[in-house]
Amino acid sequence: MTAAADQYDIVILGGGSGGYACAFRAAELGLSVALVEKDKVGGTCLHRGCIPTKALLHAGEIADSAREGEKFGVKTTFESVDMSGVHGYKDGVIGRLYKGLQGLVKSHGITYVEGTGRLTSPTTVTVGDRVLTGKNIVLATGSYAKTLPGVEIGGRIMTSDQALSLDHVPSRVTVLGGGVIGVEFASVFSSFGSEVTIVEALPRLVAAEDAAISKQLERAFKKRKIKVLTGAKLTGASQDGDVVTVTLDSGETVTSDLLLVAVGRGPVTDDLGYAEAGVTLDRGYVITDERLRTGVPGVYAVGDIVPGLQLAHRGFAQGIFVAEEIAGKQPAVIDESGIPRVTYCDPEVASVGLTEEAAQERHGEVSSYEYNLGGNGKSQILQTQGFVKVVRAADTGAVVGVHMIGARMGEQVGEAQLIVGWEALPDDVASLVHAHPTQNESLGEAHLALAGKPLHAHA
Ligand code: NAI
Repeated sequence: MTAAADQYDIVILGGGSGGYACAFRAAELGLSVALVEKDKVGGTCLHRGCIPTKALLHAGEIADSAREGEKFGVKTTFESVDMSGVHGYKDGVIGRLYKGLQGLVKSHGITYVEGTGRLTSPTTVTVGDRVLTGKNIVLATGSYAKTLPGVEIGGRIMTSDQALSLDHVPSRVTVLGGGVIGVEFASVFSSFGSEVTIVEALPRLVAAEDAAISKQLERAFKKRKIKVLTGAKLTGASQDGDVVTVTLDSGETVTSDLLLVAVGRGPVTDDLGYAEAGVTLDRGYVITDERLRTGVPGVYAVGDIVPGLQLAHRGFAQGIFVAEEIAGKQPAVIDESGIPRVTYCDPEVASVGLTEEAAQERHGEVSSYEYNLGGNGKSQILQTQGFVKVVRAADTGAVVGVHMIGARMGEQVGEAQLIVGWEALPDDVASLVHAHPTQNESLGEAHLALAGKPLHAHA
């Protein structure tokens, strides 16, 4: 390989959601691209995050269905969870997607460079003794699972990375952190048959969500016999033979077979040459402007290393944005508040836009309506409980937030996103006919009610 051959329009450091999306879009736009990845293209989302966890959650759903057949008049018995079978299923899903992704890298004509890259100047990434020169560089090195001081990962104390490949179902699990990863794993373990305790420092689970959602989730978890300790800070964790014991600030101790640490994800930016090249870092995050420029001309950043929502679909959007920006297409800035959020525990939580509290801060007066899934035929058929909450700002009359909870409600977030993104008025949505009997209808009903003409709901 000659030095001249290693010159590209874009060199991308990191082949996760943000990095590969940028590579694909750039290639589509006729730019030459080198994509550097030290592990596997697909990154956290495909190999250690979104995809494997959702496969585990689906296996959990099957286990719950086997237990609950009787509820639907079907005689079923739940025997056991065979973890090797679960992993076979999960890895099969990952394997097929991984193969597809590798095919896309090839068909886009991207130069894929396997190895650990380092930013060695504002225009070069060095991988071993190979120097890739880019007119533009995109930093997309992603995030890692954090832990707390004094809580060392190893043995019975693990993060989602290790928990994804457990070869058995532990009988008791303590989950540290009641955020997105915490509640999803709590849900999986509970479905698999573990006794689960969640320890959360804040006063409620999924604290970034609307308060009504947290309340309903805690109620649902209680019904599932998941123990939730909120306002509980961990002061220590110790392993002793077969057990791990955590101590809380109240003095209470919780003993279990496994401690899952889910206290957030940190940016992977250490020792990669970023600061030396002049990139501004704040607590490890890469600081960018709204056009994802780092301040060093020609160097951009996307995905989990950029402060904000650490979501794969945000990474995709940012990657595409940067590719189009570099190609001179002047894409519209990504509206972070319009990015949908789904937490795949049972019941699922899905939301977009502002919580009621945030809407009050931003807009002053707001009104909201909670449509109970009790009135929704399909949700009754599925025997799930929950609601759709719609928040409207009084100043503009537009819907600024939609918050949903209930089985499968994640699938409804697409319409909710259009409603919030297009600043719809409740009347606009109420005039659209929603299919019956679907769970989607509950979104229509919530807007009918907010527009003053409730159908299957009390005014
Ligand atoms: P998180 O920030 O959502 O939740 C961490 C929780 O741990 C917080 O509620 C925090 O109060 C709590 N915590 C921190 N220190 C504590 C202590 N000493 N004692 C007790 N509780 C403590 O982070 P999480 O769940 O680790 O997820 C990381 C990122 O990955 C998030 O940004 C999340 O959005 C993303 N993710 C998204 C998924 C999805 O979209 N479905 C799935 C999984 C992760």
